[in-house]
Amino acid sequence: MKKCQVCSTPLNCFMSFGQMPLANGFLTPDQFADEYFFELSVGSCLHCGMFQLMEQPNREMMFNERYPFYSGSSRGMAVHFKKFAEHVKKDYLFSKDPFVVEIGSNDGIMLRHFADADIRHLGIEPSLNVAQVAIDRGINTISTFFDEDCASEIVKKYGQADAFFAANVMCHIPYLHSIVKGMGILLKPKGVVIFEDPYLGNVIENTSYDQIYDEHVFLFSLSSIRYLFGQHDMELIDIEPQKTHGGSMRYIIARKGMYPVSDRVHLQLKKEKNMALDKPETYESFRKCCEHSRDSLTALLRDLSRQGKRIVGYAATSKSTTIINYCGIGTDLIEFISDTTPIKQGKFSPGAHIPVRPYEEFSKNYPDYALLFAYNHAKEIMAKEQKFVETGGKWIVYVPQIKVL
Ligand code: SAH
Ligand code: TYD
Ligand code: ZN
Repeated sequence: MKKCQVCSTPLNCFMSFGQMPLANGFLTPDQFADEYFFELSVGSCLHCGMFQLMEQPNREMMFNERYPFYSGSSRGMAVHFKKFAEHVKKDYLFSKDPFVVEIGSNDGIMLRHFADADIRHLGIEPSLNVAQVAIDRGINTISTFFDEDCASEIVKKYGQADAFFAANVMCHIPYLHSIVKGMGILLKPKGVVIFEDPYLGNVIENTSYDQIYDEHVFLFSLSSIRYLFGQHDMELIDIEPQKTHGGSMRYIIARKGMYPVSDRVHLQLKKEKNMALDKPETYESFRKCCEHSRDSLTALLRDLSRQGKRIVGYAATSKSTTIINYCGIGTDLIEFISDTTPIKQGKFSPGAHIPVRPYEEFSKNYPDYALLFAYNHAKEIMAKEQKFVETGGKWIVYVPQIKVL
């Protein structure tokens, strides 16, 4: 029986999505025969509350010099990180010559606002191609995986930090105890950790099971985060729900007793009790909702395809890999996936091998239907795709429900 990565209690494994490729494993035809697959199954820990994958591929297979996710590929996220940086500068940096550290800093979408303001900063980003974009922009970045040893090295070279950020990366890291010990080493006594990730409560509520893929080894709740940091003499002092990635939670953490704990934390913990995030029945019902969502989406696509309609996927997101492979969507249903990221274009989607084509092919010859794999960027995308709709095009979305718009 597999054990919880955080507290070692045997996991309640309640569902498998079947054999899955790497979510960001876009590939060329000569690589089809050797494509890597693993079983994507999930469990919840009934002791500490961590929702997690039963098995995760090696980190070097996912995060390397060919990592195809560039944070700057969405304008909406650029605005989000600008606001995030302004909030930190205003509310959390009080010392004379502050120093901030970010892990998973990617192309520098967040840290650029500190670099531009001449604030001492350091990004830790193992995927070299995206780290290089940040380095080329003058953002101080080292390409390595963060852990407690890395934290000691940083302190030796730069001293302790006022703030430590992590956006959409804590949930990628199975060795969380080493990360939290690293934060303890790195932070000044009154320093804060601010991190955000997709929130388990939103995933359950919206049946957004596409948040479950190889990189996301965890989906956090407040109770699981409280447990984890409590083991290291740190505590959750505040939260700020976010709209990003279909519903995320920002957590603010400090050394125990340094700051008062906000009422927002207690209120959200109560909400989690009401949602029964600690009960196995909740996950049984989530499994049924996933199966229902899969069956309705495939029925809709098959029906449209029988009517001879052209359907194209919009945005080759990591999340789409779970949808496409779990639902068995192939080139029989979707002609191609349009995406703006140069290194995804000309390749094929993981597992189902649907061609990924440049955005221009979408706008040159609009399909009848676009299956919106980046529903989290719906506002941004729909605003710029009015012509598609004016010419009779329709959107298909599947979160929170299957809908044709
Ligand atoms: N923060 C960005 C990028 C998120 S993608 C954003 O929100 O858009 C996750 C990033 O974390 C990837 O760039 C990946 O290379 C990086 N990463 C994965 N494991 C890491 C680790 N142990 N330490 C630091 N970064 C890591
Ligand atoms: P995102 O939902 O952030 O990806 P992930 O599921 O991997 O976290 O979406 C980013 C992808 O969507 C990226 O490949 C670029 C693509 N994209 C477009 O093709 N067009 C767009 O207008 C936007 C906003 C994203
Ligand atoms: Zn546990």
